[in-house]
Amino acid sequence: MAVADAFPRLFSPLTLGPVELPGRIVSTAHQTGLVERHLPTGALAAYHAERARGGAALIVLEATAVHPSGLLTPHTLGGYLPEIVDGYRRLAQAVRPHGARLGVQLFHGGREQIASPPRAPALAPSAVPSPRFRVEPRALRPAEIEELIAGYALAARHAAAGGLDAVEVSAAHRYLIEQFLDPSLNRRTDAWAEGAAFLRAVLRAVREAAPGLALGVRVSADSPAAAAIAAIAEAEGAHFLSAALGESSSYLGSAMIVPPPPVAEDAIADRARALPHTLPLIATSRVVDVAAAERLLATGVADAVGMTRALIADPELPAKARTGREAEIVRCIGCNVCIAHYHAGTPIACAVSPRSGRELELPRAAAAARRLRVAVVGAGPAGLAAAAEAGALGHEVVVLERAERPGGQMALALAAPGGSGIARGLLDRFRAVDVRLGVQATAAVVAGLDPDAVVLCSGARPYEPPLALDSAGVDAVQAWDVLAGARIAGRRIVVADWGGDPSGLDAAELLATRGHDVTLAIASAAAGEGVHQYRRNLYLQRLYRAGATILHHVELRRAGPGEVVLGNVFAPELETALPADVLVLALGRVPADGLRAELDALRLPVEEAGDCLGPRSLEEAILEGTLAARRLA
Ligand SMILES: Cc1cc2nc3c(=O)[nH]c(=O)nc-3n(C[C@H](O)[C@H](O)[C@H](O)COP(=O)(O)O)c2cc1C
Repeated sequence: MAVADAFPRLFSPLTLGPVELPGRIVSTAHQTGLVERHLPTGALAAYHAERARGGAALIVLEATAVHPSGLLTPHTLGGYLPEIVDGYRRLAQAVRPHGARLGVQLFHGGREQIASPPRAPALAPSAVPSPRFRVEPRALRPAEIEELIAGYALAARHAAAGGLDAVEVSAAHRYLIEQFLDPSLNRRTDAWAEGAAFLRAVLRAVREAAPGLALGVRVSADSPAAAAIAAIAEAEGAHFLSAALGESSSYLGSAMIVPPPPVAEDAIADRARALPHTLPLIATSRVVDVAAAERLLATGVADAVGMTRALIADPELPAKARTGREAEIVRCIGCNVCIAHYHAGTPIACAVSPRSGRELELPRAAAAARRLRVAVVGAGPAGLAAAAEAGALGHEVVVLERAERPGGQMALALAAPGGSGIARGLLDRFRAVDVRLGVQATAAVVAGLDPDAVVLCSGARPYEPPLALDSAGVDAVQAWDVLAGARIAGRRIVVADWGGDPSGLDAAELLATRGHDVTLAIASAAAGEGVHQYRRNLYLQRLYRAGATILHHVELRRAGPGEVVLGNVFAPELETALPADVLVLALGRVPADGLRAELDALRLPVEEAGDCLGPRSLEEAILEGTLAARRLA
């Protein structure tokens, strides 16, 4: 079979009104943070050029405000600014030579606002507070509604003047347009009480302002308003629908906007199938596998696929699939580092692909001038990344790992319902790295390899608190040991979780699903403060459903016969004694950096990466492992 025949639909053209796409893989709108003063930067052009070069057929630029009141964050593009026309031209110049088409998403958040102070007053159909970002909007005045519609038209004119191919109106995620369509949020009594009126007016204004552009409408396929939005889009002459999931205003709904594992990879399929529509449909959410993408097209569920995180993780995904290099695709693992950066107000990044978002700073790996023999100590994410990068640079690499399996903390996460999908993805990402397992890397062992350089990635170990434990009728065990498979005897479990890394959540969930009576005692202000909010929301959903009891604001004080004593972190004089058979500790990590001094004695160049320098997350481990390999010379 010829290579291109493997995916006959993914690489066939698709017509969206006046525009023909060269293929059917779409990079849907996503905020990058590569924006300054509400205008595109050179970094944004480089970012999208990379995805165009890699074969994306259509790139839809991030949610772009149609009015100053619609700026979701300080890094939102301002589609109403005249200067954006030049910005669009530069983006089009960067993308077009590769054959990709370029569109922009026209956006207003209404009562959804992530902006940091000083914030503009939030405007919405009616004054209904929004819980997730705790925004208290005021009802739009009729003249302001007209002004917003004019803003959509102005932004569409700018898109046309900037040489774009398409505009996509966001009617998704319970942002402004959907707020008009939601009777619980639109309590108006004027002409705009009819929910559809605003979307209709917007689409008419946009179509008139930019008649030559393909006009799309983004819709959340799981919204009660989805069918109505699809019908209005069609009636108003739109050319395509872009179906996503989720809604911004609630904890649970927001988690589906960028759903992490264990949300199934075909999460969008049923919703897209159930959406009545005749317009060409782009279906997006958790599509990471090219064969699955081809199936969505072959079964008629969609006409094109949005593979947004998949293209963040590997901009070359389409080109690799098309040329039979599917095995080389770096798959998105769903860790949501990308969206975590957005919520933190920092430029986009990807845990598995450090170059994403750093296209201007970090060149592609080129062969090293001299082939070195490199010893990597530790096969956690940092070590695996260092080894993969060193191998790509042409070095000869030996990786030593003390455990019987690679992955470090990711190998532990394999056991956890909330971590296994990400962990499997991570191990798959580095499946080509050859690791010598079960080898304790002493300085003598390393010296025996006769390396030119060493990359030390010895990771972390759990923090052990200076408490009198174990002896007093309660078994104390580290969360890591629970995940590693330690046998837990006893029904009543207290997990003392400091609220940082996910090991406490993972251990609690694992034990609760096995029928133990679990109390998760959290010392931080909120659960999972070190875990991105979408993952955290789903952790909490599963923990409650598994019957775990969650206690907030309590730290471990001591353990006595059959009990664990917790103290309130805000009112320290308040103590609670819980009956317990087993105490599980998730109280942070410390670096496992003991080998460094010994290695120094060998007088070899030593680079370090990841948690042995200071325990942090997967993102830093892979970034530092990659950069450490690049420093070898
Ligand atoms: C960092 C980031 C920012 C996003 N910003 C937007 C946005 O501006 N507008 C929008 O409609 N969707 C936005 N999304 C949602 C994506 O378009 C897409 O629907 C979602 O990521 C699920 O698809 P995926 O699994 O292919 O990533 C964003 C997603 C990410 C990861």
